[in-house]
Amino acid sequence: MNVALGIGGGIAAYKAAELARALIERGFTVQPVMTAAAEEFVRPLTFAALTGRKVITSLFSAGSPEETLSSAIEHIRVAQENHIFVIAPATADLIGRLAHGLADDFLTTMYLAFTGPVLLAPAMNTNMWNHPATQENLRILRARGHMIIDPGEGELACGMVGPGRLAEPELIANAVASLRNRPPLRRDLEGEVVLITAGPTQEPLDAVRYISNRSSGKMGYAIASAAVARGARVILISGPVSVPEPGGVETVHVKTALEMRKAVIDRMEEATIIVKAAAVADYHRSDPPKQKVKKTAARLSLELDPTPDILAEVGRKKGDRLLVGFAAETENLAEEARRKLDSKHCDMIVGNLVSQEDSGFESDNNEVLLVLRTGETIPVSRAPKTEIAQRILDEVLRVRLALHATT
Ligand code: PMT
Repeated sequence: MNVALGIGGGIAAYKAAELARALIERGFTVQPVMTAAAEEFVRPLTFAALTGRKVITSLFSAGSPEETLSSAIEHIRVAQENHIFVIAPATADLIGRLAHGLADDFLTTMYLAFTGPVLLAPAMNTNMWNHPATQENLRILRARGHMIIDPGEGELACGMVGPGRLAEPELIANAVASLRNRPPLRRDLEGEVVLITAGPTQEPLDAVRYISNRSSGKMGYAIASAAVARGARVILISGPVSVPEPGGVETVHVKTALEMRKAVIDRMEEATIIVKAAAVADYHRSDPPKQKVKKTAARLSLELDPTPDILAEVGRKKGDRLLVGFAAETENLAEEARRKLDSKHCDMIVGNLVSQEDSGFESDNNEVLLVLRTGETIPVSRAPKTEIAQRILDEVLRVRLALHATT
């Protein structure tokens, strides 16, 4: 299997040579691709000797127009020839350019033409690693389904101590090897329109206060990214979250349960698949005061009314659309999920226990129980939400086939 090894211009560039060797030991062929800055740290000859391959550096080799044209087309060929794209070290600058689709050198141009799995191993000064801009760019790349191997902690070349050291080459090589067995993403949702809700709702208590919950939107956003990568048109109806909008998705921003209901009902006609991952408030204040309620020493009691049950309403109106609901429980998960499947006319319920550590609300990971209309109950062990999202879509397609076969 062929791996393109993108090398950024950081002090850790020399460790990319160890990574190249580790990948070759695992049976990969390695095609080095260096940025101009990387060449300041390590000579291309080092990688040519290690890999036995011509090292690709600039985007267009200076020379005759024919040479320039052939090298311009070369990045497409290299993108098509390689199965996995590893970028190590991924510098802050390179991460920013990849996140925003800038293509001003061979490596970033090839990235835009590449359709397989991408793995990045960042390395940089601790303050740069912690900077909101870097973290925002990494969130965008994670939301695209790329694997990020976080840097290790320790003393850095600049003398600081903290996160920022390139992860060990052996660890990166093992992560690449784990991608080897992943089936290539199939565009099996071509022609589908997937309507997804995600995030919390915010229910005003007065002019400045509201009640909400800890939903980060990551689960729904991961499903949106996965669906669009598999060829679907995606309409994402999102409560207020801080995760970046997934690329290629139409995102509709709402705040309250009433606004979310209206957006869902307005757009569900277009959908063939509906996934309700949002944590919609069950109660709200139906007539919040227009001014801020002044604080007094007296106890304050609130009268809250139930919000409309959007899932139940969609269940009644779904027609032959495939409807996936979620169930956030703290106990009796299987029973509660099965009850919701029936009472809300869903075809699948994604049940998750939300009282567990590092799973459910806010976490990058989740552990779910898929309860299907076909009668099956499928436990899916804890994994990154990007993986869980793929599995949910796999089962959505399988349930639809099974249900159509019985009608
Ligand atoms: O966003 P993350 O931080 O990634 O966290 C993911 C998650 C934990 C929020 C997600 O996995 C999840 O469980 N979402 C559903 C949360 C929820 O509201 O569960 P529930 O059991 O209260 O609601 C059941 C279903 O009814 C859900 O599909 C919900 O969208 C829907 N609902 C609920 C209330 C309401 N008024 N209208 C609805 O449509």
